[in-house]
Amino acid sequence: MRSIEARLEHLEALRARARAGGGPDRVARQHKAGKLSARERVELLADPGTFEEIDPFVVHRCREFGMDDPATETPGDGVVAGSIRVEGRPAFVFAQDFTVFGGSLSETNAAKIVKLMDLAMKVGAPVIGLNDSGGARIQEGVASLAGYADIFLRNTLASGVIPQISAILGPCAGGAVYSPAITDFILMVRGTSSMFVTGPDVIKTVTMEDVTKETLGGADTHASVSGVAHVVADNDADCLLRIRRLLSFLPLNNRQDPPRRTPADPVDREDADLDRFIPESPNQPYDMTTLIRKIVDDGDFFEIHEGWAKNIVVGFARLGGRPVGIVANQPDHLAGVLDIDASTKGARFVRFCDAFNVPLVTFEDVPGFLPGTQQEFGGIIRHGAKLLYAYAEATVPKVTVITRKAYGGAYCVMSSKHLRTDFNFAFPSAEIAVMGPEGAVNILYGKELAASADPVAARKVKVGEYQELFANPYVAARKGYVDDVIAPRTTRRRLVRALDLLENKRDVLPPKKHGNLPL
Ligand code: HXC
Repeated sequence: MRSIEARLEHLEALRARARAGGGPDRVARQHKAGKLSARERVELLADPGTFEEIDPFVVHRCREFGMDDPATETPGDGVVAGSIRVEGRPAFVFAQDFTVFGGSLSETNAAKIVKLMDLAMKVGAPVIGLNDSGGARIQEGVASLAGYADIFLRNTLASGVIPQISAILGPCAGGAVYSPAITDFILMVRGTSSMFVTGPDVIKTVTMEDVTKETLGGADTHASVSGVAHVVADNDADCLLRIRRLLSFLPLNNRQDPPRRTPADPVDREDADLDRFIPESPNQPYDMTTLIRKIVDDGDFFEIHEGWAKNIVVGFARLGGRPVGIVANQPDHLAGVLDIDASTKGARFVRFCDAFNVPLVTFEDVPGFLPGTQQEFGGIIRHGAKLLYAYAEATVPKVTVITRKAYGGAYCVMSSKHLRTDFNFAFPSAEIAVMGPEGAVNILYGKELAASADPVAARKVKVGEYQELFANPYVAARKGYVDDVIAPRTTRRRLVRALDLLENKRDVLPPKKHGNLPL
């Protein structure tokens, strides 16, 4: 029989093997490629010393394609998994280890991820997946595919119950992309990560297109063209720090409220500059993110999807120490018009916030929906409906500030009073109408103006009359569609007070299995 000392020594030797992953040469190759090892990543993500590993001794069970040799076994089998603390709060993490079979997914390492996700669901804590993998372990065939499907099911069941965050820190190809795709946020690292369903070689064969891996599925492509990536980081460490920051705004699960902080920024702070922030000319752009930063706690705004569909801005901030989700039209890009991508981007964010009890604050300056065949053929009707549906469905506290334009259907969509928004405020510069003055005058008086002696002067008069009548917040305020017209300098205080009042808001949806979001 072995002595206690020998048993402990054996345990330590096995642990050391698990910690070594694919060995020093492969770890060195990983570093040379500009990537950290799986364990280094977990350590950077976690509060120091909080990582508790599970299943470090799991090995593959494959006996095919030369895999019957025990030498092919690496304890942990290519994925490092366990629990951590982030700012003292629990989370679960799995990190694919590229130094073991290229981080490929085997039956047993999939089972580790599934076990972790099941536990996270029971405990009610977020799951963070650090992806760096050559995909399905080729030697394992359908057993590996089964592992993926088991994970996809967990991702789906966990959606809306616990936050799920995916970092792409290396390759992520084929069907493997669909696990991150179901999670709430995808972060990618510039230069070392890629995501695609079919790679450049297959594309070349099938469509004759020449495209590099980076152009096809690199971080910048997904952060600015496809919208697949929510956040881009410069390197692994930067990415892991951004995950920690993102988590700081989120509750652990859908039964909790997001974590509050005691704000250093006075809640009744006024900013006199805000009174003159909106340009007098309705066509002059301004940067909505500057306005947001002037209002939220300490000017701290964590933008999501910063480089994609820039005509709408979404992200997290705090007001009076309370995390909020901000949705805002961006007059600095396409005049803040709503198009297909902006609608999808906004809708997804609104639904995330609603699922996780994050109050929604909307800043509105929207000239309408983008006209054109490209938009109509692309299904702006279907996609625009997503944003409308998301706002209408949301039961979290909702507060809207109309800073300038609120025209047409876009007025209804952007968290209007009619979608059961709790407080709707408007700046004195707000213009709320069916359409802008030029378009309205054309339709109402086009023939009359054409026949007049001086069409330019006559048009000017009519436009002036229209602006006087409609391009202001008071028509809506008289009807109670706007709860109050506020001095811009007081916005922060008004928002904080509104959110305080709404702290215990309860609103419901009629009983149903689930709605039919226009997809
Ligand atoms: C088993 C794999 C592997 C895999 C890589 N390796 N991918 N082993 N199954 N899928 C091994 C390699 O054999 C190699 O082992 C080590 O990992 C490192 O791989 P390299 O090729 O040397 O690294 P690199 O040059 O950086 O290239 C990385 C790579 C490439 C681009 C990921 O390995 C690759 O193309 N792999 C196959 C990708 C793929 O087609 N996967 C299936 C996709 S379909 P040694 O011992 O030599 O170091 C899919 C379906 C999912 O995943 C379905 C879900 C529904």
